[in-house]
Amino acid sequence: MGGKSNWTVRSVITLAALLTASIAPAAAQSREPSSAPAAPAPNIAEKIETCAGCHGADGKPVDKTIPIIWGQLPGYIYIQLRDFKRGDRKSDVMGPIASSFEKADILAIGEYFSKKPWPDLAQPRAPKDVARKALEAEHSVGCTGCHLEQFQGTGIMPRLAGQSRDYLAKTIADFRSRARGNNPGMSDLMIATPENDLAALAEYLAGL
Ligand code: HEC
Ligand code: HEC
Repeated sequence: MGGKSNWTVRSVITLAALLTASIAPAAAQSREPSSAPAAPAPNIAEKIETCAGCHGADGKPVDKTIPIIWGQLPGYIYIQLRDFKRGDRKSDVMGPIASSFEKADILAIGEYFSKKPWPDLAQPRAPKDVARKALEAEHSVGCTGCHLEQFQGTGIMPRLAGQSRDYLAKTIADFRSRARGNNPGMSDLMIATPENDLAALAEYLAGL
């Protein structure tokens, strides 16, 4: 059994390396527009009027399956809105919303929400046994190698600490079934991680 899990860990590390490699050009690309001259910052006030209806007027989403976007990383928000617009990340709700945005809007929207304070959903801390299981899984996969210490996120790696538990569970399940198909490397990694480890991680992350 030990041997088997070693293989799993090894293949996950390979996947992680591949994933990081495939991320690098995307990250470089997403920085391009902001360094390009001229393009005046668009006025996004009208475009973001509807967001609060679901993501919350105070940053606390109105439903547990809706993610927090206040205080999320701007590069990550950019990639998600771009992927919703392209249809690479399928969502009946977000697809039509993002499809009307231009690249400059998406950049400005990412900046705007990233500057808002991350809301405290007051989710309970994971019980000790759950936290221990989550940290073991974290150590064998190395989630924080990408999501950063304390799961604060960086660049296009999202912050996970304090994210809504039900949303985390849903989006992890969507990665596993590839219903969320915008990052196949992330799906491979989630599929390679045992389901009960992921359940522990979702509970642990929500309570951070
Ligand atoms: C009708 C409800 C609704 C509205 C309005 C809405 N969203 Fe969303 N948003 C959602 C849901 C639900 C998801 C999760 C989709 C999924 O299941 O993958 C989501 C996901 C997102 C994500 C991905 C977050 C992550 O952690 O991956 C971003 C970014 C986002 N929305 C931004 C916006 C912005 C900006 C607006 C306003 C222009 C907006 N949303 C308006 C419901 C909404
Ligand atoms: C090799 C880097 C890497 C590793 C390792 C990694 N992730 Fe990720 N993760 C990413 C990237 C990049 C994204 C954004 C994918 C996208 O653009 O949709 C992501 C997205 C996510 C999301 C979606 C968050 C949201 O707001 O929708 C969750 C949940 C997640 N990761 C959990 C984990 C967990 C749990 C682990 C460890 C078991 C882990 N990740 C390991 C790079 C990584």
